[in-house]
Amino acid sequence: MHNEFEQMDKEYIVNVYNRLDAVLDHGKGSVLYDVDGKEYIDLSAGIAVNIFGVCDDVWQQAVIAQLGKLNHISNVFYTEPQIILAKKLCEKTGMKKVFFSNSGAEANECAIKTARKYSHDKYGDGRYTIITLKNSFHGRTIATLTACGQDSLHQDFGPFVDGFVYADADNFDSVKKLAEENNVCAIMMELVQGEGGVHPLDPAFVHAVADYAKAHDILVVIDEVQTGNGRTGALYAYMKYGIEPDIVTTAKAIGGGLPFAVTMFADSCQHTLTDHTHGSTFGGNPICAAGAISIVDRLDDQLMAEVTKKGEYIKKELESCQNVEWVSGLGLMLGVKLKKDLAEVVNGCVDAGVLVLTANGLLRLLPPLNIPMDVLQKGIEKVKAVIDK
Ligand SMILES: Cc1ncc(COP(=O)(O)O)c(C=O)c1O
Repeated sequence: MHNEFEQMDKEYIVNVYNRLDAVLDHGKGSVLYDVDGKEYIDLSAGIAVNIFGVCDDVWQQAVIAQLGKLNHISNVFYTEPQIILAKKLCEKTGMKKVFFSNSGAEANECAIKTARKYSHDKYGDGRYTIITLKNSFHGRTIATLTACGQDSLHQDFGPFVDGFVYADADNFDSVKKLAEENNVCAIMMELVQGEGGVHPLDPAFVHAVADYAKAHDILVVIDEVQTGNGRTGALYAYMKYGIEPDIVTTAKAIGGGLPFAVTMFADSCQHTLTDHTHGSTFGGNPICAAGAISIVDRLDDQLMAEVTKKGEYIKKELESCQNVEWVSGLGLMLGVKLKKDLAEVVNGCVDAGVLVLTANGLLRLLPPLNIPMDVLQKGIEKVKAVIDK
């Protein structure tokens, strides 16, 4: 059965994902099953989406209740789930306003537009350049793809959007030089670079950049599409770093498995987007927003402590493997540098019944945040056995 599906997938769906050998059918929490009934422990969470596992009861009930009330109506009208969610997010973060959209890329597009307009409103034409970091990932639309500091992603799709320059991560002089040479409106960064190789930025670098930006009225945009919503052991990673960004973007986990994204604005730019300067047909959709409330409500200190503890456990276990060079990351966002072929390990894990990921040459683990300890232990034992086989 599963070979038949794989063949049809390859025939009818554009082959951009290099899919792993599992046709997944259903699951509950951190355990999934394929169409042939084989069991998998999930250490991937749909790439940092399913933080409470698949088909999480609380989220499911919130979504089903909203589905029976109002599935969609235009953003020209008020809807309750959006308003409640916005208030909760502002209260939990101290940010002043939010804009809802449907994907990480869109949340970042909104941040880019806001940064440009903020500067245009204050300084007029020309102050539109955004500094991003080498190895960063910000999305796949043309503007967010331009923002990505990875040449390999840029090869086939030029011409790109004007106004992006790339600094070396963890090198403040590189940021300062670009800021002096260009007319810069913002600096945008992931605090743990995800797709680029699970690299947590040096806190001293982040603080130097944030201080410099504040002194020069350059907006600090933090992309928390992957790091956000508890993944690093803090509600948002910027809280762990102790900085005060002007704009924070998030997506993935906040939707609980439905497409949902948020761009949050601090006081500095809360009034930048005005009537008809931005919008989205589905952004803030009542079903997605009702589900998101059920996610945000459960991001508490107890969960954060659990994330930190489980992350430390995984790190320690994997560091003890002969074929592991090092483990990087924060909380439950981990990258593993192997001394053996990555594809062999990934395929071996799937074969052994564990779902894992890769990121720029590393094995990447992003388990559900609430994965039960016994399930996690079972999964990690399987991964260790494959690595040291
Ligand atoms: C840091 C970061 N920003 C943006 C994106 C793009 O998000 P989406 O795929 O939802 O557009 C991703 C996706 O992996 C990401 O990790």
